[in-house]
Amino acid sequence: MIKKYTSGRPINTQAVVEQFDSISIKELPFKNKIDNGKFIFEFDMSEDDIVYGLGEAPRGINKRGWVYESFCSDDPFHTETKSSLYAAHNFIMLYGSNTFGIFIDFPAKIRWDIGYTSSNKTVVAIDGTDFDIYFIDNGTPIEIVKEFRKAIGTSYIPPFWAFGYQQSRWSYHNAAAVDAVIDGYNKADIPLDSVYLDIDYMQCYKDFTVDEEKFPDFKKYVEEKRRQGIHLIPIIDAGVKKEDGYSVYEEGRDNGYFCKTEDGSDFEGGVWPGIVGFPDFLREDVREWFGSKYKVLTDCGIDGFWNDMNEPAIFYSEKGLENALNKAVDMKGKNLDLSKFFELKDTFLGLSNNAEDYSSIYHTIDGRQVCHDKVHNIYGANMTKAAGEYFEKEFGKGKILMFSRASYIGAHRSSGIWFGDNHSWWSHILLNLKMLPSANMCGFLYCGADLGGFNENATRDLVLRFLALGVFTPLMRNHAALGTRNQECYNFENCEDFKDIVQVRYRLIPYLYRIFCKASEENDMIFRPLSFDYPDDKIARECETQLMLGDECMICPVYEQNVNGQYVYLPEDMTFVKLSGTNVSTEEMKKGVHYIDVRLNEVPLFIKQGKQIELCSPALRTSFLNAEDCIMIP
Ligand code: GLC
Repeated sequence: MIKKYTSGRPINTQAVVEQFDSISIKELPFKNKIDNGKFIFEFDMSEDDIVYGLGEAPRGINKRGWVYESFCSDDPFHTETKSSLYAAHNFIMLYGSNTFGIFIDFPAKIRWDIGYTSSNKTVVAIDGTDFDIYFIDNGTPIEIVKEFRKAIGTSYIPPFWAFGYQQSRWSYHNAAAVDAVIDGYNKADIPLDSVYLDIDYMQCYKDFTVDEEKFPDFKKYVEEKRRQGIHLIPIIDAGVKKEDGYSVYEEGRDNGYFCKTEDGSDFEGGVWPGIVGFPDFLREDVREWFGSKYKVLTDCGIDGFWNDMNEPAIFYSEKGLENALNKAVDMKGKNLDLSKFFELKDTFLGLSNNAEDYSSIYHTIDGRQVCHDKVHNIYGANMTKAAGEYFEKEFGKGKILMFSRASYIGAHRSSGIWFGDNHSWWSHILLNLKMLPSANMCGFLYCGADLGGFNENATRDLVLRFLALGVFTPLMRNHAALGTRNQECYNFENCEDFKDIVQVRYRLIPYLYRIFCKASEENDMIFRPLSFDYPDDKIARECETQLMLGDECMICPVYEQNVNGQYVYLPEDMTFVKLSGTNVSTEEMKKGVHYIDVRLNEVPLFIKQGKQIELCSPALRTSFLNAEDCIMIP
């Protein structure tokens, strides 16, 4: 049963699609108070209770013992000391002596102190008094998730080809660079379905333009790639370059479509293209306008996009930069003491994604001017909505691949997400794994991390182990940052090992696609914590390194360097399956702890007793897969 408690006059975020009667916030079954304009409530936790949720967020599957903040943040250092990543997914679930779920529908900051200040208490501080709290009790964890997911609506299903292997890099600058990637994969006989176009495909980073010097006759080129079975996926950024003569900018400016400052002028910030205007995606007419711009690219045959920088990321504002420069000029020639030096340094470091800049942005909602601070967390979600609404109207559901960096619950109906700018760190394999069930709880089924890691140089073994987890994530994309080592599979020595891993993905696609569609239809999760299936098993309840997949499997990626295997825990007797290229080996294993041997070219998987999954023959493209041609294992 879901109960909806309403306080004040909440902004309609459109996260929830089911109708519920509002109950006064006074009836909320948690101790609460209003302090300094914040609504604060709390609940106690028993020693063994687990707290799940928060979707894309740092730290563990069990969120206890840390303080999180719902605030979409452009921050490429996903260390365990952080409180936020790019998304704001305000759903948590307490599981234990008491089991319930809470969704806070509120588009500004929320602070979640989950046993950080006081180890057996969760204290939630909502940065305002206009919100809805949905409270779901009575049920097992999966029942609570399903009830919640029913309320927020069916999860997005991308086109089938989006389950293929995808190669990205910032950037494949021109047609020749893209061709070299496709060639590299073809020669190595490694499957591939998509190649990404990062910001350099555009003219001077201008959305909805293509640099003709780099891609002469883009339409013809896209068609040619499609004939080779390859989808090109361009990036779209939130900010629109300020430039006279650039039609998208001029239309935005002349129609008043950009976010404003308090005095009604356009807010301007610096991102990749230099100074940009930020479309006010919270307005329906602006969404319609921006959404229709994707047509320039869909007309060329493009059928997949990634929306980026939509927290929004702001490197600097004119005002912030001017203040910083003035400060520097002021200090020039003076003998700075340490504190003055650090003040100067921090002024420059603090230019990006600056709180004062965010506070100076205004949106128009139902004719009212609303400060960005009050709606920050739904900006990116509404950019996605702009695209999603256009795609659905023009092409029907699920025809266009769309995923976003920033997100809020509700966006899961029209897109997927990726987990942003991670690092080529071993710890980020596990971070990737831990976010999967949490994202699923919040409706985001099509998701994944930058495999191999985005920032810094990756090693061959790291990319292989990352990919071996990515074999199971709906979005299987290898992406790397500018200036880092080449991370395409064929660029590493002995690339047969990579072929073995990526082929396993293609063999699993019919199974993965089937469980994906089923999870979307039934408001279910693809990835679950082990505790959902084995509630009475203490070791399973505490497991942070393995996940249940579908109704059949358990996955346990290798996440350490220089090892040929690892310990795993089996909560019941299972079949241990090792997949590598076209090889399949199976071994029955008893409940308990086992050391399993897993080489760099192998994907480990466990199948529950009495269950089977389908494996098809590998192919170089998803379009060549034949779902009829499957064997069942074990
Ligand atoms: C952002 C994105 C990253 C992209 C880069 C350049 O950092 O998160 O994926 O490669 O911008 O567009």
